[in-house]
Order: sequence, then structure tokens, then C-alpha cells
Amino acid sequence: MNTFDLNCLPPAFLQRVDELLSIDERAQWEASLRSRPLSVRWTGPSDDVSSGHDYLVEHGLSPQIVPWCSDAWSFATGSHASLTALPWVDQQTLFMQSLSSIAAVEAMGIEPGHDVLDVCAAPGAKTSLIRRRQGDRGILIANELSRARSRRIHALLKRLGVGNVEVLTGPGEQLGRTHERCFDRILVDVPCSGEGRIHPSNPASWSQWSESAIRGLVRRQEALLESACRAARPGGVILYATCTMAPEENEGVIDRVLRRARTPIELMDIELPLVESRPGMAEWRGTTFVKDVGRAVRIIGSDTMTPFFMARIQRVD
Ligand SMILES: C[S@@+](CC[C@H](N)C(=O)[O-])C[C@H]1O[C@@H](n2cnc3c(N)ncnc32)[C@H](O)[C@@H]1O
Repeated sequence: MNTFDLNCLPPAFLQRVDELLSIDERAQWEASLRSRPLSVRWTGPSDDVSSGHDYLVEHGLSPQIVPWCSDAWSFATGSHASLTALPWVDQQTLFMQSLSSIAAVEAMGIEPGHDVLDVCAAPGAKTSLIRRRQGDRGILIANELSRARSRRIHALLKRLGVGNVEVLTGPGEQLGRTHERCFDRILVDVPCSGEGRIHPSNPASWSQWSESAIRGLVRRQEALLESACRAARPGGVILYATCTMAPEENEGVIDRVLRRARTPIELMDIELPLVESRPGMAEWRGTTFVKDVGRAVRIIGSDTMTPFFMARIQRVD
């Protein structure tokens, strides 16, 4: 169990947390900071998931089943040291990945053979799961703005033995024009203020945080989502995701993109049975969002999941 002093966090951040979360949700979020959610995903042969489970049990761990993902397990507080000491975790056959990150890919509803675009892909954790859900069939393009971070995608995919992924380096904002109507599924996991990763024991996790930084991210997030909508085929699905609680970067982005959409799009429900989640917020600090924003999902921090936001959008024509 971690001990820490929440008061080292920026007062304006704590004020927003109080405005955003109910008393119970705030207690849940604080519990997530104490227990640090822990989960792994099996990257070995798809038809041999039970080997991963058996290995964990044989090594004295108690993997908890994830109801909406058959090849991932979560662990109780205190398992970190024994888990990271395991050779299969070191080799990434059991890959440490947050359940929120896995949920974003599961919410895309990828089917074998779908053509998929990952707009903001580095370091590539979600890309690797997308390829698995495609059944290693169909096109997968993983795009990333930074050349150095693109190299991390190549390195991770190589380590995990994931092939047939085209890695592009460039602004995702241009993909709507260069790849118009090309994809069945698109992930837009945008750069964000990362409030879901803020932890009092790690000053680097909040040193860049400010309300003006949040406002400064929104335009890029909107442009990336609009580009993704353009790159979707009619009937295609776009999953917008952030690891922040900030409504400006979540419901606010969805609201403005829906209101001014040039591509015909609509919000859809996210059908994963996620506990400790709630619908997108109807309003924030005097701004009321389009009604459908309630179809998006906010994951509240908990002992199994880190804070996250997801909205599922369909291109209708
Ligand atoms: C939240 S991270 C993506 C995490 C990744 N999806 C994963 O699961 O491993 C956002 C990424 O977007 C990249 N990025 C920032 N601006 C971008 C842009 N305009 N176009 C494409 N990628 C961008 C950042 O460099 C960063 O690697």
C-alpha cells in the first residue's frame, strides 16, 4: 500500500477533482492511488491463453478474471514485486498493460480482417492488441508524430512478435486527407493532460499540468478526431480516447466535433460491461454538451482501472 500526501498536487487540480467526482468516486480515486491497478495481457499463442493463467497460478499469483477480456488478468494490491520478477513478464509474453488501455481496443469492436488505423500509436501497446484482434488479417497502419517514438513502436512490435503493421511518421491531422474513407476501425488515442496518470509520489506526472495546458491541447485533439472521421469508411467506427478526467478534452471535444461535423457521424453506446464507470457528463462549468455525449464512458479510477475516457463514433455515410 502506498502512502502519500495528496496536498502536494496542484490546488487547482484538486479543486477540479472535487467538482468532477462525487464523494464516493473521490474515495475510489484515492483508493486507486494507494493500490495502483495492476494487470497483464497474454501475448503468446492465441489458442493457448490457459498457459498464461496456469503459469501465474503456478508462481503463486492470484490472477483475477476480466469479464470483458479473456486474455488479460488483474491482480490484488501488493502483487507488483512478485509479478515483475517472473521471466514471462520480463519477456513480455505476459505484457503489463492497464485495463483502461485494453478496454479502449475492446470497445472498438474489431473483427478479423478489418482494416484499422491507429492515429496516435506510440509506444504501440494498443497497436499490438489491435493486430491480435484483427486475427493478423487486414491492413493496420500505426501513425505517430514523433520519429523517436515511431522507433519505439517498431521495437515493441518486434519484441512482441507482431508483424504486418505499417508504421507511418507524421501528423495524424493529415490522414483524413491522404487516407479518406479507407478504414473499418480507427483509434484516436490523443495526446492529453494525462490526469489519469497523476500520482503524488511522482512529481513528473503533474509538473506539466495546468488549466492553460488543458486548454492548449483541445484544438489538436479536435483536429485529430476530425481527421479520423474523414479516414473512416461509411459504417466505420472511430474510438476517441484520453487518459484524462478533464471535460474540456473529453466531452468538450466530442461536443464540438459533432456540432460542426462535415463528415456524417453519430455517437454510439460502448457495450463493454465496465464497472466503476459512468456516462459522459452533460455539462461542465456552465457549458452544456450535446445530449448524446452521455453515450461516452468515463472510467473512474479504482483498484483495477486508471481514469480514462472513451467515445465511440460511427461514420454513417
Ligand atoms: C496517448 S499517446 C498514445 C499511446 C498509444 N496509443 C499506446 O497505447 O501505446 C499519444 C501519442 O500521440 C502522439 N502525437 C502527438 N501529436 C500527434 C499528432 N499530431 N499526430 C500523431 N500523433 C501525435 C504523441 O507523440 C504520443 O506518442
